[in-house]
Amino acid sequence: VPRDVTVRFPAEVPTSRILIGRGSFETLGRRIARATGARRVALVTDARVGRLHGRRALDSLRRAGLSAGLVAVPQGERAKSVGRLEGLWRAFARLGIGRRDAVVALGGGVVGDLAGFAAATWLRGVPWVAVPTSLVAQVDASVGGKTAVNLDAGKNLVGSFHQPSAVVVDPELLSTLPRRHLRAGLAEVVKMGMAVDARLFRWVERHAVRLRSGEPATLETAVRLAIAAKLRAVRRDVREREGGARTALNYGHTLGHAIEAAWGYRRVLHGEAVAIGMRAAAQLSVQVVGLAPGARDRQDALLDALGLPQGMPPTRLSLLWRAMEHDKKRSRERVRWVLTPRMGHASLPRPIAPRMVRAVVLRLGARA
Ligand SMILES: NC(=O)c1ccc[n+]([C@@H]2O[C@H](COP(=O)([O-])OP(=O)(O)OC[C@H]3O[C@@H](n4cnc5c(N)ncnc54)[C@H](O)[C@@H]3O)[C@@H](O)[C@H]2O)c1
Ligand SMILES: [Zn+2]
Repeated sequence: VPRDVTVRFPAEVPTSRILIGRGSFETLGRRIARATGARRVALVTDARVGRLHGRRALDSLRRAGLSAGLVAVPQGERAKSVGRLEGLWRAFARLGIGRRDAVVALGGGVVGDLAGFAAATWLRGVPWVAVPTSLVAQVDASVGGKTAVNLDAGKNLVGSFHQPSAVVVDPELLSTLPRRHLRAGLAEVVKMGMAVDARLFRWVERHAVRLRSGEPATLETAVRLAIAAKLRAVRRDVREREGGARTALNYGHTLGHAIEAAWGYRRVLHGEAVAIGMRAAAQLSVQVVGLAPGARDRQDALLDALGLPQGMPPTRLSLLWRAMEHDKKRSRERVRWVLTPRMGHASLPRPIAPRMVRAVVLRLGARA
């Protein structure tokens, strides 16, 4: 009987087909059938997106010969909970979702993260397809395979990497997205520009007015460019290793997540919180890694032009600290930040002296 054995398993490289284009939503059913081979589908959505686009999605699935059941969760970040996750598992059981069937996430980042994690865990993992409907989800959340739910102790604390078999991105769906959510999504595009792709940043600068007003063709280009930038980071570092390229995408998120948590995931949208977090991160970048003050100013001016918040609603500093320390991206000693030594480049997450963070955060509206 062997006592100490090393087993080499074949490297599993999951592939995703990413389809971006206005009108792709109409052919959803066919795409899903082709990408997954499923016969049965659980179509997970939230209340609002379900009301707006659920019918068309179901029709398309059924036209493709799939048997589909709709499962709706309430809208908003609070649906990314263990309780809702269990609700999805129960629904999958009711619908008879088997190993070869599929979960389809129709909605924003909340639905994608929740339904993706439900797919990752159901029967130890079934295929899923992301159909992102918010800008945050189209440019960021739907690509890269991160899935998760939140706990009281913090955001995204329980999750897994589970690549979707396909991502169907139809920018036309953004026409029903409330303007405030559109702007929040633009924050993630600016993030991609600052942290991984300076050309994307300059492109957003030139098109800020059209983007803010939701001009469809410009939005579609933004979605393509942002996905391309994200893929470059994700391909090099699929599982976000310590020190890997993917950590750049957390630029702005150390403080961003803390603001969301401090407000109980209500008042401040994820993208808005990230925008405030980027203002802090750029200032720290000037002080710590030599970002040119002019680059910081350009970032802040672009966030202004896109209608993103200049600071947070009055928030107790102690709440922010507690949240930052709970965030899984911290090191054991100090909260770590992704900084940008120059535009389009991110440094590895690094601990920053608390008094420096304190000064920056107070200037952004925190209360001592
Ligand atoms: N997995 C990742 O890599 C990743 C990346 C970025 C963000 N995220 C997660 O994504 C979440 C934020 O995503 P979000 O901003 O999309 O939030 P969300 O899913 O709550 O969507 C925002 C709001 O817009 C509504 N909505 C979405 N699409 C719509 C449409 N087409 N028309 C009308 N209303 C629409 C939703 O009902 C919701 O009320 C956070 O939980 C964040 O952690 C994950
Ligand atoms: Zn984000």
